[in-house]
Amino acid sequence: MKDPIPDVLAPARLGPVTLRNRIVKAATYEGLSKNSLVTDELIDFHVRHAAGGVGMTTVAYCAVAPDGRTDRKQILWTDEALPGLRKLTEAVHAEGAAVAAQIGHAGPVASPKGNGAPALGPGRHFHATTTSFTKAATRADLARVVRGHGYAGRMAVEAGFDAVEIHLGHNYLASSFLSPKINHRGDEYGGSLANRARLSRDIARAVRDAVGDRIAVTAKLNMDDGVPGGFWLDEAVQVARWLEEDGTVDALELTAGSSLLNPMYLFKGDAPLREFAAIMPQPMKLGVQLFGRWKLRSYPYKDLYLLEDARQIRAAVKLPLILLGGVTDKAAMDTAMEEGFQFVAMARALLREPDLIKRIKDKPGTRSLCIHCNKCMTEIYAGTRCVLVQQPSQLA
Ligand SMILES: Cc1cc2nc3c(=O)[nH]c(=O)nc-3n(C[C@H](O)[C@H](O)[C@H](O)COP(=O)(O)O)c2cc1C
Ligand code: SF4
Repeated sequence: MKDPIPDVLAPARLGPVTLRNRIVKAATYEGLSKNSLVTDELIDFHVRHAAGGVGMTTVAYCAVAPDGRTDRKQILWTDEALPGLRKLTEAVHAEGAAVAAQIGHAGPVASPKGNGAPALGPGRHFHATTTSFTKAATRADLARVVRGHGYAGRMAVEAGFDAVEIHLGHNYLASSFLSPKINHRGDEYGGSLANRARLSRDIARAVRDAVGDRIAVTAKLNMDDGVPGGFWLDEAVQVARWLEEDGTVDALELTAGSSLLNPMYLFKGDAPLREFAAIMPQPMKLGVQLFGRWKLRSYPYKDLYLLEDARQIRAAVKLPLILLGGVTDKAAMDTAMEEGFQFVAMARALLREPDLIKRIKDKPGTRSLCIHCNKCMTEIYAGTRCVLVQQPSQLA
């Protein structure tokens, strides 16, 4: 007999924790930490989302090592950061929501200039996005990164998080190892899919060993890098199967695209070229002006734009899955439930209206006001916001 279709607005188990509903605020780097520590503004950001009705909000992106940051001020798992992180988790819990920490190492997407350290990658390659060469990660580097994930998991438990989300997407370090286009190593981390997936599986194992069943462990996994010769669905299906067999994660959030090679593939919708050029220092500004249209290709947006790919993973594993990508209203959430996904994750629609879930609860026909212009992407280093929402400072 088929399982009944779950109510997306009713409580649900995610591994060892219970969420008040099946809606997750997806990670959107907030740009609100300072000196790698939590600020009141970061707490307010997540309290707004918690008060707005989501089951769980996600703090993005907490780097497992200083050289894994995309922005120097990003949160690091230090003793000094713990009190602020505890204050944040308590404030979110007070609003009835759970809170996850997205953990990861940005690898080739990290900022070598900001971090004062080369970005790690599977090999030494020049990347136009960071205008620098990556350093080929040694075995010792990889062991350090794996340990860093375990440490982050332990710290997340101490800080009161309900879950950690391991970043295995967007060509960040683990995802760059998965990619046959980026990873040309000849050792046990390159070549076959089993080798390219080793780092992701080791990381998930380290996190699970560190947290046990005290909090939930999820992973945000690419299904398709969106570049010719990159990691694609056939391999993603197998990696999802391995993660299921390993028993290291409680759910997978399914994503796509490459912050390194094809960022707009993550989002679909317009590429805000003018706004990107405006925030870039030279020579990247000139690069965006000259080659932006080629590098930042636009893709037509449609609701549930990752559903077709995600169905392939759904058919391959029993593991709970979180559907992401163009979830903006109750109808899309219901479709996700009908298609066998256990949770949905939402990013831009909740940046536009943090109280959207509350309003959907009151009026199920509520439509999102997000127009997928993607201009919020250009705000991430100054305090992530929807450009259509007036900030308190603008209201004065
Ligand atoms: C402003 C902004 C910042 C983002 N930052 C992150 C991040 O730190 N980590 C991550 O995995 N994804 C990040 N994303 C991607 C989202 O989590 C999500 O995968 C994507 O926006 C698609 O979901 P949506 O259609 O609900 O917006 C970001 C998206 C936006 C719009
Ligand atoms: S800036 Fe606002 S309207 Fe535009 S994509 Fe971001 S959240 Fe949506």
